[in-house]
Amino acid sequence: PIPVIFDCDPGIDDAIALLGAFAAPELDIRAILAVCGNQPLERTLRNALQICELGGREDIPVHAGAHRPLCRDPIHGKFHGENGLGDTLLPDPLKRPEPVGAVEALIDHLGQAARSAGPKITLCCLGPLTDLALALRLAPDIAAGIERVVMMGGAFREPGNRSLTSEFNMLADPHAAAIVFAAGLPMTVLGLDATHQVMLRPEHVASFAAVSGRISRSVAGLMAFWDRNDPQRYGSRGGPLHDPLVTAFLLAPELFETRPARVFVETESPLCLGQTVADWFGKTGAPANADIAIGVDAGGVIQLYLELLARYGTG
Ligand code: BDR
Ligand code: CA
Repeated sequence: PIPVIFDCDPGIDDAIALLGAFAAPELDIRAILAVCGNQPLERTLRNALQICELGGREDIPVHAGAHRPLCRDPIHGKFHGENGLGDTLLPDPLKRPEPVGAVEALIDHLGQAARSAGPKITLCCLGPLTDLALALRLAPDIAAGIERVVMMGGAFREPGNRSLTSEFNMLADPHAAAIVFAAGLPMTVLGLDATHQVMLRPEHVASFAAVSGRISRSVAGLMAFWDRNDPQRYGSRGGPLHDPLVTAFLLAPELFETRPARVFVETESPLCLGQTVADWFGKTGAPANADIAIGVDAGGVIQLYLELLARYGTG
């Protein structure tokens, strides 16, 4: 199996991405990190613990990440409900976070992978990039332990979803994103250009509800809450499947079309803060630092999730 670490800010779509990953024996999930993002850290951490319990994966260590972005004031998500999980009522988690924080855990895992002859670790980033930026600043040698960063974030040809130009994860910590993109890591970027191609329509939600089993019913509930009902923006009812594309990419990269480019992140302009700007045509002379998803087989991704959730069985 592929060794992976998830860094997330659950978040409805983070939860779906994790529940999909839990069902995939192809992935060896070494740790889950929770970061301030869609909700304050206390809440994203609690949600991460609850999702582990919901998915029967109490075995995965969960670490608390950054309480705040590097420089800016925190902003939080708008469409995830009061509790960040579509106001689903899950039991208070019995599972506790590890005593070691997320940045230290990242440095430990990646440092070990860098020093060993074994496989390197794939980092799956579903939220603001604060933890990874801090780890790189503290221990730059950990880069050698990273197989690839597969992240949800950014908007290239699409407009922003949180500001005119910027996608939420980038706007929530633009300085961290700039550090990560400048670090020379192998990166695959699943931004709004890809995620807006995978719209969950009411008929898809119904097909998840029809998969028998507790987990698919919970996911269908999360998806129903996620429906923005914003036809002006998305053409008809439905909500875009953002973070789950990260898990889908790990399991079925053939569903995606990517293109390499140099990515820069705007950190100064009040109007364009957090904008991801790609040099598609090599104008800057700087080498590509990311593979950017520009196409995705939406039907293939939805089918993949239906199959993953069916693996939980009918219980
Ligand atoms: C991203 O922002 C968050 O609200 C979602 O969880 C996703 O990671 C989409 O822009
Ligand atoms: Ca997220």
